[in-house]
Amino acid sequence: MSVKILMVCLGNICRSPLAEGILASKLPKDKFTIDSAGTGSWHVGHQPDTRSIAVAKKYQLDISKQKGRQFKVTDFDTFDYIYVMDNSNYRDVIHLAKNESHKAKVKIILNELYPDENVDVPDPYYGIENGFETVYQMLDEACENIATKLKAKHT
Ligand code: 4NP
Repeated sequence: MSVKILMVCLGNICRSPLAEGILASKLPKDKFTIDSAGTGSWHVGHQPDTRSIAVAKKYQLDISKQKGRQFKVTDFDTFDYIYVMDNSNYRDVIHLAKNESHKAKVKIILNELYPDENVDVPDPYYGIENGFETVYQMLDEACENIATKLKAKHT
């Protein structure tokens, strides 16, 4: 059975699509399923932001086929691990949790790099172009640690 990992941000067009693409590139497809979602609904059905698509392409990743969707309560049962991009996403997702087992699945992604520090992946949506490169590098490092941990545990 496949281990399922969900990446969550606010819009599901900038950060979590990158996190999905990066983690998927580091794990074997037959054993792991990666998806992403937004806590908000503005971008349901949309392609990732062109700036996220561009920075992914720079590192040989194609995230252009992803479609935005909103996080839903059943995701707590579907997914084994839920990584949120910032503290605001964390509060929004935890608010929807129905029990302690749901809550235990939710982790702030940069705690994989800086344990217990609760550092945010900054939202690059309204920022300058370079913000997407910074976000990519943060997510690449965090996903490297996540992939190492998950492969050791599940393969
Ligand atoms: P994301 O960035 O959460 O990294 O996808 C955002 C994209 C769009 C909006 C907010 C954040 N928005 O308000 O439309």
